[in-house]
Amino acid sequence: MVLTLVLAGTENTAQTIGNGTVGLLTHPDQLDALHADPGLLPGAIHEIMRWCGPLHSTQFRHAVEDVEIGGKTIKQGERVMGMLVAANYDPRYFADPDRLDLRRQDDIQRELHVAFGAGLHYCLGAHLAKQEFEIAFGGLLSRFPDMELAVPAEELERQNMPGSWRLRRLPIRLKGSS
Ligand code: HEM
Repeated sequence: MVLTLVLAGTENTAQTIGNGTVGLLTHPDQLDALHADPGLLPGAIHEIMRWCGPLHSTQFRHAVEDVEIGGKTIKQGERVMGMLVAANYDPRYFADPDRLDLRRQDDIQRELHVAFGAGLHYCLGAHLAKQEFEIAFGGLLSRFPDMELAVPAEELERQNMPGSWRLRRLPIRLKGSS
């Protein structure tokens, strides 16, 4: 439990801040929209989670009885893993899913993405993480409005960890700091 809390509570959050910062800095129109209207931030955080959340899948689940999902039968005892990233890019729920659109999830009471999982094992720390993102992105954008990537985006290195999307490091130029 301690390991889960420490890893889930720090790594995922830190990686989302990194991934989201790259997303914003490589989509200047979206960044400008957020600067112009900081009220977009709570919904923007959901879109960042959908578009570049750090976890691609859930833990394994074991079927306690035969069950049919999407036309396939999962037999009792077989293992399944939910692909969160596939659901988050499902065009039936998100039009033009590859596009980062910070206005997409304006009704934040209705969380459409599944970056925090769903159901019984929905992330224990989701509310804490969302508060951390509001403080982190809000503070970063207001304090360093002109920050930019210090290397071309295609040169950013990712960790080789199947099932997750993590940066090795994120060089940023914090020009315009106050
Ligand atoms: C961006 C940040 C985070 C992401 C993307 C994330 C994602 C997730 C996901 C997808 C699950 C469900 C896994 C499954 O269904 O198998 C989960 C569960 C969990 N998360 Fe998070 N999480 C984040 C932050 C946190 C934080 C800050 C904490 C604790 C302070 C935390 C603690 C947990 C725990 C304990 C579970 C297991 C819940 C259970 O099995 O009932 N997470 N998280």
